[in-house]
Amino acid sequence: MKNHLKSYLTSVLFVTILISGVVMAQSPSDLNLMPVPREVKLQDGKFKLDPSLKMKIEGKITPRLAKYATGVLRRLSGRTGLFFLQDNVSGADSLVNPVVRISFEREGELKVGEDESYKLTVTETGIKLTAVTDFGAMRGLETLLQLVTNDNEGFYLPFVTINDLPFYKWRGLMIDPCRHWMPLEMVLRNIDGMAAVKMNVLHLHLSEDQGFRIESKVFPRLHEMGSDGNYFTQEQIKHIIAYAGDRGIRVYPEFDVPGHTTAWFVGHPELSSKPGQYKIERNWGIFGPVMDPTKESTYEFLDKLFTEMAGLFPDEYFHIGGDEVKSDHWKESIEIQEFMKKNNYKDEHQLQAYFNTRILKILEKNNKKMVGWDEILQPEMPKNIVIHSWRGKKALLQASKDGYQVILSNGYYIDLIQSTAFHYLNHPISPDTVLPQSQADNILGGEATMWAELVTNENVDSRIWPRTAAIAERFWSHNSVNNVQDMYRRIGKISLQLEEVGLLHEKNYLMMLRRLTGGEDVNPLKMLVDVLEPVKEYKRHRLGVKYTQYSPYTRVVDAARPDAETARKFNEMIESLIKSRGKSTYDALIQQLNTWQAGSKELLALIDRKPILKEIRPHAGNLEAISKLTPKLLEAVYSANKPDATTLTEVQALLKAHTTPYGQAELMILKGLETLVKHYNP
Ligand code: ACM
Repeated sequence: MKNHLKSYLTSVLFVTILISGVVMAQSPSDLNLMPVPREVKLQDGKFKLDPSLKMKIEGKITPRLAKYATGVLRRLSGRTGLFFLQDNVSGADSLVNPVVRISFEREGELKVGEDESYKLTVTETGIKLTAVTDFGAMRGLETLLQLVTNDNEGFYLPFVTINDLPFYKWRGLMIDPCRHWMPLEMVLRNIDGMAAVKMNVLHLHLSEDQGFRIESKVFPRLHEMGSDGNYFTQEQIKHIIAYAGDRGIRVYPEFDVPGHTTAWFVGHPELSSKPGQYKIERNWGIFGPVMDPTKESTYEFLDKLFTEMAGLFPDEYFHIGGDEVKSDHWKESIEIQEFMKKNNYKDEHQLQAYFNTRILKILEKNNKKMVGWDEILQPEMPKNIVIHSWRGKKALLQASKDGYQVILSNGYYIDLIQSTAFHYLNHPISPDTVLPQSQADNILGGEATMWAELVTNENVDSRIWPRTAAIAERFWSHNSVNNVQDMYRRIGKISLQLEEVGLLHEKNYLMMLRRLTGGEDVNPLKMLVDVLEPVKEYKRHRLGVKYTQYSPYTRVVDAARPDAETARKFNEMIESLIKSRGKSTYDALIQQLNTWQAGSKELLALIDRKPILKEIRPHAGNLEAISKLTPKLLEAVYSANKPDATTLTEVQALLKAHTTPYGQAELMILKGLETLVKHYNP
């Protein structure tokens, strides 16, 4: 990628500052930038914010940047409580002595690889932001907001010079409004979240077995019969595209074919490979219904539909899915088998490749580049398609080597509730790999994928954020930026800032807990749920509960969030205590355990009053037991003694008895306990 720029890499981890010509190491703890910029030079001094602050776009101006900058001014005002006198940001000549001066050279284009670089300087004379494009200026404005901090006297920005540019061109989020409907507001607030962390591609997965979620004027039965009335109108899609475009974010659609198409067949059974009546699929999984690739009428249909949709989405790229095609219906059909024989297709993969080449022609006619999940990578396919890697890294590396452009989602499946660190350390191009430049150039970037089987509009933000901020850093920052601890240090602060743009990841947590307690004080329950996480990967489907589209997603497991911060910190402190036996760590651990112990009685009583909470009662009992037993082990570690054998045995028994994920949730502090036990029984 941009390896030639590696030479002037510095990150906030190793910032150097110049004071009277002396280069010093600067502690990173005063900056909370995410993603980490390419080059940060922090200087001594603060630029204090006061109500006289005025922001101006100098020289060239675009309405979208004026709007964006005005939004940033409002967010700045909201965060600081300062009453700025300026109502909107413009280039008006009457605006004299601006404190924030913004300028750019040309209007950005919504295309892959557009220049998003910027330079931001904060000195005693003010804040200066320059960029090549207005999109670059937007990226810089987000950095400006992240630089704002406060001391006892007020808010300020540190004196700093930042030169920044993205590592990858394609920094995406995929939203699945099909499995569970995601309304317009969900898409819009997440676009704002994306912009806040410099992401630039929104991938809308618009059709599935469980829903066809966009209005088609050409084939209205698709959305009328395939969506329960929950679909984006074309006007809404235009609004989404314009809204994203005003933030330098491209929007491209996915119509998943030829599998994952049950909802299409409700109104158009003639497209299917197996005659019959179809109903919207309500279950989760991979299903048999598949388009008939042997009939010309299928292509006539798709030609009309994709031409309609290609006109609606101005982006150059168009995703055709192509994943998880079940061939049972193809095998069962005499006509399809004859077609394969006639064409000498050895297997159903070749039939799908034929289908893909036909679709490719339709897209090319519409000037679109075809994107598909890695299953579409077949020897028959030309090099001008884009491979979206989800099953593993192998496809990514092989395809990029073979000359295909690729994007990575394997390792960014945020529906699977893995840790932020896991996603963060997952690289499209890992730092220890040296690729030929041509191959590296083919690796465009990646996308976080928010599959929606187990989320609704209510809790989806908590699966996307804040973890996707760390993924955004992976895509934007240099691939040598890899310090997990520093990422965790920053992400909590970024998470709060993401609420400023309307995201619900923090807010709805408490709302869901309130519903669970029926309006009673949520704090006892929160104490427990703060250290619970939903089970990982696809386990939730395998624990004896059958989830469907109409199941409740309102239980404790749905409120519980990935990467539970309180548990992570507890587990980290235990490791730290074992390593360094620090007094403050010991005290903090004891205090935490005391809090749990003190709250347990109330928690258990609450659970006993609330039928919906019964399923997590064992976790509460476990928490209480841990809070009582662990201090003895910690004391032993702290004083470098052996714990008494009884306590150790009790803890071991507790660990053994409580590995069951009650309510499909896991008590994450058990990990810390395991660490303690291992310390004594390695
Ligand atoms: C996929 O997750 N089936 C692309």
